[in-house]
Amino acid sequence: MSFTIIEQCRARLNRSELAVPGSNTTFLEKAAKSPADVIFLDLEDAVAPDDKEKARKNIIEALNDLDWGGRTLSIRINGLDTHYMYRDVVDILEQAVDKLDLIMIPKAGTAADIYAVDMLVTQIEAAKGYKKRIGFEMIIETALGMQNVDEIAAASPRNECLHFGVADYAASTKARTTNIGGPNPDYHVLTDPDADGNRDVHWGDMWHYAIARMVVAARANGLRPVDGPFGDFSDPEGFRAQANRAAVLGCEGKWAIHPSQVALANEIFTPSEDDVTKARRIIAAMEQAQKEGKGAVALDGRLIDIASIKQAEVMVSKAEAIAANDAA
Ligand code: GLV
Ligand code: MG
Repeated sequence: MSFTIIEQCRARLNRSELAVPGSNTTFLEKAAKSPADVIFLDLEDAVAPDDKEKARKNIIEALNDLDWGGRTLSIRINGLDTHYMYRDVVDILEQAVDKLDLIMIPKAGTAADIYAVDMLVTQIEAAKGYKKRIGFEMIIETALGMQNVDEIAAASPRNECLHFGVADYAASTKARTTNIGGPNPDYHVLTDPDADGNRDVHWGDMWHYAIARMVVAARANGLRPVDGPFGDFSDPEGFRAQANRAAVLGCEGKWAIHPSQVALANEIFTPSEDDVTKARRIIAAMEQAQKEGKGAVALDGRLIDIASIKQAEVMVSKAEAIAANDAA
């Protein structure tokens, strides 16, 4: 281990994060009953400029009046380059802070962006005498944000989560795609021709680097990495494939831009019973090996060692957190 110890942010389940436009009161009411682990009430891109004020009011009412159960609640504020953002923070924190857990900062570009929101939130919390501290989640969705992702992740003790905002990221990097998330047929490799001259097309994952980069920055700062939207909500298999790729790379969860994606995300980011059983067997085998003074042993014909215990513990502790949440 490094002498530098990574402090972990407050633990929360974040398998699914449901996006709900603040301008739509019916959606807000439905969201309160959703099985999503986290719900973000949107003031930003799902709300048209003329609806911004109304959305803010709706969100204040929804936070105060609806029964949200034990769900983690976030608000996506407008960008720091708009004149809406300060009112989003001031009005909602002053009028509806009780059930709010997080503020989502879109298009985070530099550490100073997080510093600015931190300053504002800290002043409101102090002025109102709030005991609880609001956490931050940042969307990495611009070339600038990706360039500065390490500093953004480390910018405030309020930070809990990094999200990959694929739609804005594609726009910012001028990627040649109009899909929101998922693969692109133009991003492929061709195999060499076989004896008959036939070649296979293998699709690649054009988001691999961006997600992997964000995961590293998040984990190196004790934060949760979460994959963003998958726009084609009539393609559950496509969602599943993208979510599985994100899970394999270390993400804790994925956005749901449609209620039907919540159950899929919850399922995919819950370790399977087989995986958890295997993880428990690894821990037991390594405990036995350590009693016998061995650093590595074979289990089911494969080498396991002390690093395997850590991998297995990640799996088991996630499964335990989910079980505790389900029981609550
Ligand atoms: C999310 O905000 C995105 O741009 O994908
Ligand atoms: Mg965006």
